[in-house]
Amino acid sequence: MTAVNDNKPRVLSGIQPSGNLTIGNYLGALKQWVEVQHDYDCFYCVVDLHAITMPQDPVELRQRTRESAAMYIAAGIDPEISTIFVQSHVPAHSELAWMLTCMAPLGWLHRMTQFKDRTAKQTQESIGAGLLNYPSLMAADILLYHADLVPVGDDQNQHLEFTRDLAQRFNHLYGDTFTLPSVMNPQAGARIMGLDNPTAKMSKSEASENHAIFLLDELPRARKKIMRAVTDSQREIRFSDEPERAGVNNLLTIYQAISGESNAAIEAHFADKGYGDLKRAAADCVLSTLEPLQARYYELMNEAGYLDSVLRLGREKASAIADETLKLAQERMGFLAPS
Ligand code: TYM
Repeated sequence: MTAVNDNKPRVLSGIQPSGNLTIGNYLGALKQWVEVQHDYDCFYCVVDLHAITMPQDPVELRQRTRESAAMYIAAGIDPEISTIFVQSHVPAHSELAWMLTCMAPLGWLHRMTQFKDRTAKQTQESIGAGLLNYPSLMAADILLYHADLVPVGDDQNQHLEFTRDLAQRFNHLYGDTFTLPSVMNPQAGARIMGLDNPTAKMSKSEASENHAIFLLDELPRARKKIMRAVTDSQREIRFSDEPERAGVNNLLTIYQAISGESNAAIEAHFADKGYGDLKRAAADCVLSTLEPLQARYYELMNEAGYLDSVLRLGREKASAIADETLKLAQERMGFLAPS
């Protein structure tokens, strides 16, 4: 088994294999994961146990789990440096999640905006309990690895607060056990909005045709989606948090997240240009990201055995840490150790 790097602070993050990954997942999460991997001891997880909080087709779930792992590597995560693994391969996640579920106040869970959003249009009879308890599983993911930092898009910030609160509660009741993690959002791209409806977050599970750019979209199709993005009837191209300017702001944000340029430089660049120019420039940026990523992805999917060996090693490295933390938490809570 490969030794774990104990000297660097630790990072943990994950993406649900509940749909094809989008440019939102890339800019909010994956891009940061790649950037921090040399400075932190990083654990990147395909969170299949989270995906089943909504109904999943078994064949598709299995397939998407592999595809997501391949996408992590294609995006630039180096399996020689970072640990890539599948959440359900490490049973400690489910075990600690149950212990934390028992300690999580219902009031805290009901306050989660993601829970409220996802259940707004459903009846009590159709909402699975996993959707409510989901933040406890996410807390387990993070706390098992004593993660110092969690790079995510800003829709996950409330879950991070919840994780810290729950860790504090456990530490207070049973003694210092868990590290309190900090959230890390990208400077640009922490919330990419839907291209067809820029007041709603871009989501991998939204069905409408021109909503999201998927990382595996054919390039002409990705370009077309951006060229059709909703804007407004004004002309000025500048960053803005006014709701009616959300479409232009979103295109500028995508451009900025990829180009890395400052607000001022970008606004100056587009000062005497039109929305068509902005869309073309944003599309060029997105395509320059997608092209190499897709090439690497298809190469990986054709390399028989490679992905499985990465996930096998990832499981070993993750289990070694997670099992130890779980044992400590069980001891603290008062479980009788098997003789
Ligand atoms: P998920 O699968 O919804 O999204 C994965 C990551 O992508 C980010 N993201 C976005 N960022 C910017 N703009 C968007 N439109 C956008 N859509 C998604 C999310 O913020 C996230 O970082 N609960 C998590 C998965 C999870 C996790 C964890 C994350 C489970 N355990 C432990 C960190 C640590 C989720 O559902 O993400």
